[in-house]
Amino acid sequence: MTDSTEPKKFYVTAGNARTFIRAVLTGNGVPQENATIVADCVVAADLRGVDTHGINRIPSYMARIRQGVLNATGSPELHQITRVVAQVDGHNTFGFLSAHLGMSSAVSMAQTYGIGMVSVKHSNHFGMSAWIVQQALDAGMMCLVFTNSSAALPVWGGREKLMGVSPIACGAPAGRTKPFILDMAPSVAARGKIYKAKRRGEKIPVDWALDAEGRPTDDPAAALEGVMLPMGGPKGSALSIMMDVFSGVLSGSAFAGHVTNPYDPSRPADVGHFFVAIKPDLFMDLEEFKERMDYLYQRVVRSERMAGVNRMFFPGEIEQLTQEERTRSGIPYVQAEIEELNKEAELVGAEEIVVSHC
Ligand SMILES: NC(=O)c1ccc[n+]([C@@H]2O[C@H](COP(=O)([O-])OP(=O)(O)OC[C@H]3O[C@@H](n4cnc5c(N)ncnc54)[C@H](O)[C@@H]3O)[C@@H](O)[C@H]2O)c1
Repeated sequence: MTDSTEPKKFYVTAGNARTFIRAVLTGNGVPQENATIVADCVVAADLRGVDTHGINRIPSYMARIRQGVLNATGSPELHQITRVVAQVDGHNTFGFLSAHLGMSSAVSMAQTYGIGMVSVKHSNHFGMSAWIVQQALDAGMMCLVFTNSSAALPVWGGREKLMGVSPIACGAPAGRTKPFILDMAPSVAARGKIYKAKRRGEKIPVDWALDAEGRPTDDPAAALEGVMLPMGGPKGSALSIMMDVFSGVLSGSAFAGHVTNPYDPSRPADVGHFFVAIKPDLFMDLEEFKERMDYLYQRVVRSERMAGVNRMFFPGEIEQLTQEERTRSGIPYVQAEIEELNKEAELVGAEEIVVSHC
């Protein structure tokens, strides 16, 4: 049944969304080849239903270019450290570009040596981690994908924003079943979900964040003035510290609460990332590995269900089902989102986004 309070949806095909973003990016000085990578990555988030990290982030990224705190025209640079270790200097270009280059390098080292590890410094927000996991899966690799991010979470017992809501992601290919794709922020909810609620004029659940005075709130604007709550108390804040150790401390990027918020125009973000690609057939042949993954999948989704649960999912499966659906029917946006995007097109003389149906 359709909820009558639901705002009207405007459906855009993935192809039209990519074309639109490429035009806005190149209109802002981003080279065509880089614009293609960024467009693919942000649309991948919308296709998977991770609307918080999709094309609605484009206006904030373009604002950073206009404010001179994101390098639109440059490209990241790869330095080989050992045969299995490389470093990417993002040169303050899009996080998508540094991450794409980093995972490509990790995959290529793993193809030859079984493992590849890449540290990325001076990068930016790369949106949804799962697209990087998918990049490794497409090459038949297992992977770890870590990043740090701007201060939003208190550590356990604290009330000041210190650690990022930094997602932990990893993946492994399977045979006939869905691959394993874990991509989760160590907060009760990703901060992007609060920005989305604010944009859409919606309330948020009271266990997501505290306001500036340390009180639970359902108002997204008040939550953005306060702190996000970590999942699982001290365990969630410890996972966030782990992302900072591997992505910030190790790389030479900002850490310990010094990554700049993507909506703060005062200086570059200086985000760090950490990627590992692993060949899955290092200890047995590939068929056996895949059969074992398929067996694990079946054990998980067929385990006994708790009361009220109709279906069990493997990590990443819900998003993969959403992707199949949205590839068929288009990606739904609300009017305010379409208008915001078209304003960006207007600024650079690009065509408006093509809506296929409402
Ligand atoms: N780049 C950044 O700085 C940044 C920061 C925060 C979040 N993010 C992105 O935001 C996105 C959202 O993060 P999130 O933590 O809100 O994700 P989420 O809570 O929606 O999902 C987390 C994980 O749980 C799994 N899951 C969810 N419901 C499930 C169910 N019913 N059964 C089985 N598995 C289930 C998902 O498949 C996923 O692997 C992620 O893509 C993340 O990368 C990015």
